[in-house]
Amino acid sequence: MTAERWIIMEEKIYTLLNEQVNKEFQSAYVYLDFYNFFEEKSLDGFSKWYKDQANEEISHAWRFINYLHDMDQQVKLTPIEHKSQKYSSVKEVLEGGLHHEQYISGCIRDIYSQANETKDFETMNFLNYFLSEQIEEEVNARNLIAKYDFVGESGVLGMNGILQNSSDHQAQ
Ligand SMILES: [Fe+2]
Ligand SMILES: [Fe+2]
Repeated sequence: MTAERWIIMEEKIYTLLNEQVNKEFQSAYVYLDFYNFFEEKSLDGFSKWYKDQANEEISHAWRFINYLHDMDQQVKLTPIEHKSQKYSSVKEVLEGGLHHEQYISGCIRDIYSQANETKDFETMNFLNYFLSEQIEEEVNARNLIAKYDFVGESGVLGMNGILQNSSDHQAQ
């Protein structure tokens, strides 16, 4: 008996999954940028929140890396496209976070759709975690914007205090 795999991953699914490793690291960079923005303003509740987000993105990258290894695929790392942005307001950062998560949700849905087309049930199953995760990520980002809209710039310190006491998965 040879140890050949009977599940063969389609090339295009492999390419998308490998690209997603990069996009998860890129997401960590986006949040690191936010972290730096808030650290510079001494808003340590916000910076803690975005540090947690950055670390979570790295854990997402690991999930893709581990899945590719499990499927006997070679992980190819590529440069991370990112330049630090100059943000002019807290609102701009919060909206940037939501837009980025919406972009990532679209990427996950694209891979899912391709996996569905090629009857790659294993990848669909693997991606189920990320479909749920992206709902949570978008809800958190939208909640922060809603709260900011409610309290305004003068309520940022109050939000900062709340975020200081928040756990990784809840923007209260
Ligand atoms: Fe992610
Ligand atoms: Fe995310």
